[in-house]
Amino acid sequence: MVDTMHQTLRRVGALLGPGDLSQHIDIVRLRDGRSMTLRFIEPDDAIVLQNYFRGLSVTSRYNRFLAAVGELPPSELEKTLHSGGNSFSILATLKSGGVDAIIGEARYAFDPVAARFEFGLSIDDHLQGQGIGTVLLSNLQCRAMTLGATTIFGDTLRSNDAMQALARKAGYTFAALPSDWRLVRFEKSLDPATEIPCAGWRAHGREMAVAAN
Ligand SMILES: CC(C)(COP(=O)(O)OP(=O)(O)OC[C@H]1O[C@@H](n2cnc3c(N)ncnc32)[C@H](O)[C@@H]1OP(=O)(O)O)[C@@H](O)C(=O)NCCC(=O)NCCS
Repeated sequence: MVDTMHQTLRRVGALLGPGDLSQHIDIVRLRDGRSMTLRFIEPDDAIVLQNYFRGLSVTSRYNRFLAAVGELPPSELEKTLHSGGNSFSILATLKSGGVDAIIGEARYAFDPVAARFEFGLSIDDHLQGQGIGTVLLSNLQCRAMTLGATTIFGDTLRSNDAMQALARKAGYTFAALPSDWRLVRFEKSLDPATEIPCAGWRAHGREMAVAAN
């Protein structure tokens, strides 16, 4: 009984401390053969993260935050720097000249009661249109399934053609949001039996299960 509760808490992220998070890194292959690293954002990423957001085009920032902001507002920054509970933030990096350059980010939240997983993401403007968003989205779907989500969704501006094209290609359906006429919700059901390439997360799930026994 205790084990079961422990496993459940770990599965929903409630027992993931900062140490556990920094240990979890995904390396995923991009269309051009390069390897993209995905890791959780940590408190000392504040400066590089804000630089990344400041470096996005005005349009990309508006699309990402649904508002005209130059960088993450302090309250959002604080939340983004501290993953845990059921909300997580990740950075996508590529090696460039021997250093890890930030090329994207995503933030997601899991509602364990409704088994719903919500996310938002962005890719550096210079690298958009190269399939990176597709790879990042696939990784987010793995994370959602590992947490036990049966639905994954996001909200985007009706004018955001790139996000809608990305979601459509990945099999999402669309619905209007009565609460905000500017937005459209894209949503997809997740089938736990589906094999999608998320070996790292399956291994991580096993590690956690072993640790909880
Ligand atoms: C939306 C976003 C994440 C997409 O990432 P990306 O790496 O450019 O996406 P991909 O290259 O994987 O493109 C996926 C598909 O979408 C389509 N697409 C991409 N950009 C498009 C555009 N500007 N207009 C129309 N379709 C587009 C393509 O058909 C592409 O499929 P293909 O590569 O097989 O041709 C990226 O444009 C971005 O960061 N935008 C700013 C922030 C944002 O809008 N975030 C979403 C908020 S929820």
